[in-house]
Amino acid sequence: MKHLFKEDVFSYIFIMLIFLSSICRCFGVTSDAITTAHFLKDGEDNVVVSGGGIYELGFFSPGNSKNRYVGMWYKNIPVRKVVWVANREAPLTSRAGILKVVEPGILVLVNGTNNVVWSTNTSRSVQNPIAQLLDSGNLVVKQAGDENFLWQSFDHPTNRVFAGVKLGWNFVTGREVYLSSWKNEEDPAPGDYTYRCDPTGYPQNFLKKGSNVIYRSGPWNGLGFGGLTNSRYGTFYRYEIVSTNTEVYFRTYLTPKVIAMLILNPNGILQLLTWVYGEQAWVPFFIIPGDNCDTYNLCGSYGSCNSNDFPVLCGCLDKFVPKNSEAWNKADWSGGCVRRTQLNCSQGDVFLKYSQLKVPDTRKSWSNVTMTLEECKNMCSKNCSCMAYSNTDIRDGGSGCLLWFNDLLDIRQVPKGGLDIYIRVAASESGLVIAI
Ligand SMILES: *[C@@H]1O[C@H](CO)[C@@H](O)[C@H](O)[C@H]1NC(C)=O
Ligand SMILES: *[C@@H]1O[C@H](CO)[C@@H](O)[C@H](O)[C@H]1NC(C)=O
Ligand SMILES: *[C@@H]1O[C@H](CO)[C@@H](O)[C@H](O)[C@H]1NC(C)=O
Ligand SMILES: *[C@@H]1O[C@H](CO)[C@@H](O)[C@H](O)[C@H]1NC(C)=O
Ligand SMILES: *[C@@H]1O[C@H](CO)[C@@H](O)[C@H](O)[C@H]1NC(C)=O
Repeated sequence: MKHLFKEDVFSYIFIMLIFLSSICRCFGVTSDAITTAHFLKDGEDNVVVSGGGIYELGFFSPGNSKNRYVGMWYKNIPVRKVVWVANREAPLTSRAGILKVVEPGILVLVNGTNNVVWSTNTSRSVQNPIAQLLDSGNLVVKQAGDENFLWQSFDHPTNRVFAGVKLGWNFVTGREVYLSSWKNEEDPAPGDYTYRCDPTGYPQNFLKKGSNVIYRSGPWNGLGFGGLTNSRYGTFYRYEIVSTNTEVYFRTYLTPKVIAMLILNPNGILQLLTWVYGEQAWVPFFIIPGDNCDTYNLCGSYGSCNSNDFPVLCGCLDKFVPKNSEAWNKADWSGGCVRRTQLNCSQGDVFLKYSQLKVPDTRKSWSNVTMTLEECKNMCSKNCSCMAYSNTDIRDGGSGCLLWFNDLLDIRQVPKGGLDIYIRVAASESGLVIAI
């Protein structure tokens, strides 16, 4: 009898615990918003869930780290990938953090002694601020019921581009938004690698390690980046570079039916990961850099990289020869190539068509998106320092004009999806026999 009684006491305690925990749950945050009355406290089940149940915001510790961070991840995907971190540079050292909204309209993360460790900022003040997690993955701070955001996480991405993020420059505010890798799998603080949209010349995206470019996307040509060799374009993933007087930015679009993310790893690999239900895994759809020829400027100026020619990856463009053949033959391609016949602008150089290439670095270029290829050629011919021209946009037979004013760098062969570029060479290289 005693034995049975004991068991009853245990079941009673057990039931009481369940009951109590369900009460606690009622007081915990399960809505899509944090309000002045409703905060998010570190604790197992305390999360903010976006309206449609797509994303979740809560406290987490990466890997074996004991540090606590506020982060965002997909709610219903069993393999958790953190896609945004609030306090990436200011970890909490205990499980006593609280995320709350306070006047004049900021979201703050406080530690166990109520010290602010991280906060958003605002240029306006509002009466009734809330922080709301949207199904797009945007965490926004605003006046309740108002659609004008005081702050949004889309302006502060960490290592992932969400559809809706403008990765690039706003010339009015002078602000740049870019991705930075985590330091390592256990530390979300900014690491060595960044992925950013560079507005210099004709805009392109760069993957950088510190200040060194390690990969260049090439200019956006209306359909994609001409140099992207390992992506299957036009399926569920679309992107573009938008360029106006006030901003230049890269943005992506995703089909809602596919769960995918463009994310920069701590080791500098940019991946488009897709969630494959059948495998219950995140699978890379493409990775960047994809091969040796993706290494920025591997073959020097006027050199052309062909990954099928491994291990001798570099060749010179037709009508060009190695600048230093001795070094070149020892696989030191950094010196690049030069024209085998020197230019003589006053004698009238010509332009030869080179096809299926990732077009050269456009940081020293000039463009006009309404000019025709013929107008483009005329303009380039007239300026002796113009080395090459091409269309800016390849759609509908091609349009726009892009002119290069430097030696042509970082060219590779792209058998499918490469572009045509017209390069200045000496008149005698045109192949025409001039009858006297
Ligand atoms: C909270 O942060 C303050 C300021 O950084 C620090 O002095 C304090 O020790 C922290 N409290 C806890 C409980 O971590
Ligand atoms: C928020 O803070 C950042 C960094 O200090 C600053 O550049 C930005 O202008 C601020 N934004 C507002 C709206 O005050
Ligand atoms: C260009 O051609 C002209 C006429 O043939 C010649 O006088 C001049 O030296 C040439 N310049 C160069 C740089 O080869
Ligand atoms: C671009 O080219 C068009 C057509 O040739 C011309 O009308 C326009 O002025 C040019 N724009 C710039 C900024 O040069
Ligand atoms: C050629 O183009 C360069 C770069 O745009 C410019 O600085 C230079 O003035 C131009 N030269 C002529 C003769 O138009």
